[in-house]
Amino acid sequence: MRNNACEALKRAIEKYRATAPLAAAENLLPYRGGEGGWLASPFDGNSWWTGGFWPGLMWQLWAASKDDWFAGEALRAEELLTAEFRTFEKLNHDVGFMYLLSCGARWKLTGDAQARTDTLHAANLLMGRFNPAGFIRAWNEPERVGYAIIDCLMNLSLLFWATDVTGDPRFAHVARIHADTALREFLRPDGSVSHIVELDPVTGARIREHGGQGYALGTAWSRGQAWGLYGYALAYMNTGDTRYLEASRRIAGFFMDHIRPDGLTDCDFLQPTQPERLDNIAGACAACGLLELERLTGGAEYRRAAEALLDGLIDHCCDWSKDRCGLLTHCTASYHDDAAGVHTNIVYGDYFFVEALAKLNGTDPMLWRK
Ligand code: GLY
Repeated sequence: MRNNACEALKRAIEKYRATAPLAAAENLLPYRGGEGGWLASPFDGNSWWTGGFWPGLMWQLWAASKDDWFAGEALRAEELLTAEFRTFEKLNHDVGFMYLLSCGARWKLTGDAQARTDTLHAANLLMGRFNPAGFIRAWNEPERVGYAIIDCLMNLSLLFWATDVTGDPRFAHVARIHADTALREFLRPDGSVSHIVELDPVTGARIREHGGQGYALGTAWSRGQAWGLYGYALAYMNTGDTRYLEASRRIAGFFMDHIRPDGLTDCDFLQPTQPERLDNIAGACAACGLLELERLTGGAEYRRAAEALLDGLIDHCCDWSKDRCGLLTHCTASYHDDAAGVHTNIVYGDYFFVEALAKLNGTDPMLWRK
């Protein structure tokens, strides 16, 4: 790698030491950074799916620095998130992101019993979304009762976690059923993955694919590719099932074929050349998955690709200033939804960027697993 990952991680810790207290001062759960402060999610407040990335980031920074301020900040955020158990009907399949990186992380790193109970509660919420026709329901709108989405692959980690800590195989069994459905319905012959597939909620038969957060129906939303790449690598780690490893490798192959010369990541790999629309969250998340693939397979090409992505981010898209909050720039929530953020900082971009640096630095606590 051209840049020094250890140095970048140190700079991230310094930036966050300076700016994270601004979130604590307002008792808010950041969705994105801005000039002199943090902004909460414009959608659904603390029940928005991204809430876990802030405490997850604080735990990553704690693991790398052993600065207890970060642990206290993670706990403050966790308390906001566990209060959201009472909103129940706003929560969806993204409870894996929300609670594995908050109470799940705290249990892993401190052994706190209440944190374990809360994480288990979240796992049971995810189990409650399982449709025995063969998939985990993504969202709550009545017209989306049969929707399954690729993002869920990452959330399956919460179910594998629950089986690991309780010894009860039901959780992992459900996770495997969903992962198998996704192998059949999402993974395309060229190694790309669909974002949304609607299944018949009674029979499980495929109804149709829907366009999601990418450019158009049938294209390749880059963050969806990253969710699939990393999600299947995690499913393999949790099961030893080589079909999941093969899926992760196929998606990785497709992703690596689309890495730009500057190391930045297009929002959709099949988008028009103009306007330029980047989503560096996808690159940061894919880098994490690629580093795990290198560890699992010894494949040096995965390491080289992860380093190209991280070099691109460090060279072009890191805001190290302590006056502005948020580190990674040019993150895009959704190709067509400007309100959710286009070419801006978004908290889960910072999370995955720091997780990838932590992997290279040997401090990643691997929050996705027990
Ligand atoms: N899980 C939704 C997203 O990636 O934007």
